[in-house]
Amino acid sequence: METILIKAEKEQQCVKLAGECLKKGGLVAFPTETVYGLGADALNEEAASKIYKAKGRPSDNPLIIHIADMESLEKIVKEVPQKARVLAQRFWPGPLTMIMPKKEIVPLSTTGGLETVAVRMPNHPLALHIIKAGGGYIAAPSANTSGRPSPTLAKHVEEDMNGKIDMIVDGGITGGEIGIESTIVDMSVEPPMILRPGFISKEMLEECIGPVAMDETLMCVPKDKTPKAPGMKYKHYAPKAEMQIVEGEIHKVCDSINKFTANWLEKGKKVGIIATDETKNCYEKGMVKTIGSREDDRTIARNLYAVLREFDEEDVDVIYSESFSQGSMGNAIMNRLLKAAAHRVITVGEKEE
Ligand code: TXA
Ligand code: MG
Repeated sequence: METILIKAEKEQQCVKLAGECLKKGGLVAFPTETVYGLGADALNEEAASKIYKAKGRPSDNPLIIHIADMESLEKIVKEVPQKARVLAQRFWPGPLTMIMPKKEIVPLSTTGGLETVAVRMPNHPLALHIIKAGGGYIAAPSANTSGRPSPTLAKHVEEDMNGKIDMIVDGGITGGEIGIESTIVDMSVEPPMILRPGFISKEMLEECIGPVAMDETLMCVPKDKTPKAPGMKYKHYAPKAEMQIVEGEIHKVCDSINKFTANWLEKGKKVGIIATDETKNCYEKGMVKTIGSREDDRTIARNLYAVLREFDEEDVDVIYSESFSQGSMGNAIMNRLLKAAAHRVITVGEKEE
């Protein structure tokens, strides 16, 4: 299949072509404010199942339905809980996905066999226009091959999806502004439960609707438990190199990473280091990439996946990353980073010698 690439600047043409393609059951990747999505008509069983094939995604991993207005929500969920209405009013359009009991009209192939459906209204004008033009209900997982970092640039989508989908809409730098996927909250339980942390934090949700729980498996995975969102159990976002997170006081972290790096270099290995604007000059050797500034951790979230992909291209053998649990997006960033590192964390400087 030939994949057509169109630039978002030609907005009307983009929306028209993307809409027609989606209505015919095709696959269209488009930018959202979080990451690029791989869209298909969510109410068309065959179209939705094409997504699984293009991504190499396990069929039990449900898709998020993207909508462009509140009326659409009523058509696909059995009942909208009051708290969901409050959150929708406050955060939609935006990086929040809510899970609610589904209506018959939503095929089980979209929900991975579940009786609930995940819904989001993205805060990206082009995405909203494409959703409308495509019939109003667009299933859109992140537009990466399963197991690869989510795409924040059109070229990432091209790397993974060229020849497998009908169209890629290149949104330039406005695609992937937030850089990590939406916060997912299960509204079908009481209290509502966060199944995936994101830009919209537990505190922001609690300000609107009171207590919110957090799936305990999100930051560490106990051996006898599996995460509640099916997709969170897979080893996602994995760079090819073995990655380790080093945590502790920042100057000790830098010292340790320098030591580990020197050891690997002696053995002839290639080492990547994920640093920040504040620390990049502390590293003596290895391939150092700054991921953003600790002063504003949104910059870190925005660059996270692109940096992981860049290290893949550089063919490094080992990656060391600093830890970023402090800021307001700490949970969201660390959830992704821990997965990329398969939960390998080295804590330094706890015992004074
Ligand atoms: O920011 C985002 O949410 C992006 C953009 C494109 O909108 N989309 C995205 O989709 O991240 P995806 O498919 O990569 O992640 C969806 C996650 C998976 O972990 C899946 O298991 C979970 O949502 N999920 C979907 N429906 C669910 C349901 N009914 N119950 C529990 N988890 C669900
Ligand atoms: Mg994904």
